[in-house]
Order: sequence, then structure tokens, then C-alpha cells
Amino acid sequence: MKVTLITGASSGIGEAFARRLAAEKHNLVLVARSENKLHMLCDELMLKYGITAHYIAIDLIDYEADLRLFWETEKHGMEVEWLINNAGFGSMGDFAELELETELEMINLNIMALVALTYRYLQKMRGRGKGTIINVASTASFQPVPFMATYAATKAFVRSFSEAIAEENRPFNITVTALCPGPTDTNFFNAADAEPLQTKGMQTPEEVVETALKGVSRGKAQIVSGWTNYIGSVF
Ligand SMILES: NC(=O)c1ccc[n+]([C@@H]2O[C@H](COP(=O)([O-])OP(=O)(O)OC[C@H]3O[C@@H](n4cnc5c(N)ncnc54)[C@H](OP(=O)(O)O)[C@@H]3O)[C@@H](O)[C@H]2O)c1
Repeated sequence: MKVTLITGASSGIGEAFARRLAAEKHNLVLVARSENKLHMLCDELMLKYGITAHYIAIDLIDYEADLRLFWETEKHGMEVEWLINNAGFGSMGDFAELELETELEMINLNIMALVALTYRYLQKMRGRGKGTIINVASTASFQPVPFMATYAATKAFVRSFSEAIAEENRPFNITVTALCPGPTDTNFFNAADAEPLQTKGMQTPEEVVETALKGVSRGKAQIVSGWTNYIGSVF
């Protein structure tokens, strides 16, 4: 069965991708830690859109979680045609005063899990001569950000890595896109134990997804969501 796998699908931008792509008749595999939320979302989307939706509740920071996730989809004969590496979190504050463990976990999730999942599913996509990968970066990827130092650096990695492999994979009919949202109204700031710098002009997750899907359909390697965010990324 052909599926779209979305990490971080239990809330925010990942959930908005799930809802939108279910409406477009994608069969889904939803991944995050919150099993109840994933279960309820799968049930709702299957009932509403007549698609197949599975969930895999897993902490992507855990050792070899990417491998377990990969084998789970393989075992059930799922062909991951679209991979959306969206799970991620941030922290805010003076780096020297933040918890080292949290900063390292952030690198594990935002970078290591994303690279590992990209690698594993890319091999299969190459074999099939078709695929779409969306890696969620951020407008924070465009410059170093004091007081979000580790987070911005992880997103700079995601953008650079994704844009590089986008070119490597064009000849194989595989689209790789770095999606760069600006401040978006999700659970992100709560999870980071932080206040957004400004709430005015914040996008909704649905707006981010709308822009993302338009860009992906044009084969773009980088998408900045929102005009003001785009202008900020250029200058
Ligand atoms: N909101 C913004 O302003 C903004 C701006 C630019 C980029 N982004 C990026 O957008 C992506 C989605 O974030 P969001 O804004 O939608 O925030 P969110 O609502 O907090 O969503 C984060 C998602 O990641 C999952 N997640 C977190 N830790 C995980 C782990 N260890 N293992 C598996 N899943 C995990 C969460 O689910 P569980 O808690 O259930 O595991 C949740 O589904 C992130 O990569 C973020 O960096 C956000």
C-alpha cells in the first residue's frame, strides 16, 4: 500500500498536513509520542475521508527509533511515497543556562532522526523511481539566532542538507523540499517553554501546509511560508 508518513503528526503543522492530505486521499502513517491523539486522529480521518490511516507511537529520540519505524512500515508492506519529517522542538534562552540534555535531545530529533529517516526511505524511493520528501526547517535557519542558538543551528542544518539532496535526487524523480515556516500558531512555543516574540502576523498551520503543497507541486527545493517571512529570509 502506498502511504504518506508524517512525523510529529499529533499536533500543529504535522496534524494540518495529515488533515489536508487525508482530504486529498493519501493513505497515512502518523508518528509521534502521543498515542491517544494519533489514535483519535486516525479514526477521524478514516471515517471522514475513507482512507487508511495507521499510527506508530514512538519517541524518535530513542536509540534506533528510526530503524524500528522503518521496519514497522516494511513489515506491513507500506510503500512510503511521501515522507514528511516534521517532528521537532526548540528551546529559548541563554545557551549556557539551558539544560545540556535538552539541547542534545533537540539535535537528536531535529537532525539525527530526520537524516536517518530520509536515508532509509530514500533508498526505497530510488528503487521505485518516485518520491516526495518534505523536511520541516524554519525561517530561523537563515541566520544565527541568539537565545535560540541550538534550535536555529539545527534548522540551518535541515535546510542546507535538504537543498543539497534535492539536487542529488532530481534525476531520480524524487522531490526534496526544505519547508521554512515563520512563527506559526501551534504548540511549539508551549513545548519550548517560551513566548513567541510576536503573535501579530503569525500563520496558521493550515496556511503553512497550503504554501508547502503548492511549492512541492512545483518541485521547489526551498519554500518559505508567508510573504513577510519570505522577505525576511531574502534580506
Ligand atoms: N510553530 C512555529 O512557529 C514553527 C516555526 C518554524 C518551524 N517549526 C517547525 O515545525 C515543526 C512542527 O512543529 P509545530 O510548530 O507544529 O509544533 P508542535 O505543535 O509542538 O508539534 C511538534 C510535533 O512533534 C512531535 N514530537 C515532539 N517530540 C517528539 C519526539 N521525541 N518523538 C516523536 N515526535 C515528537 C509532537 O508530538 P508528541 O508530543 O505527541 O510526540 C508534535 O506532534 C517542528 O519541526 C518545528 O521546529 C515551527
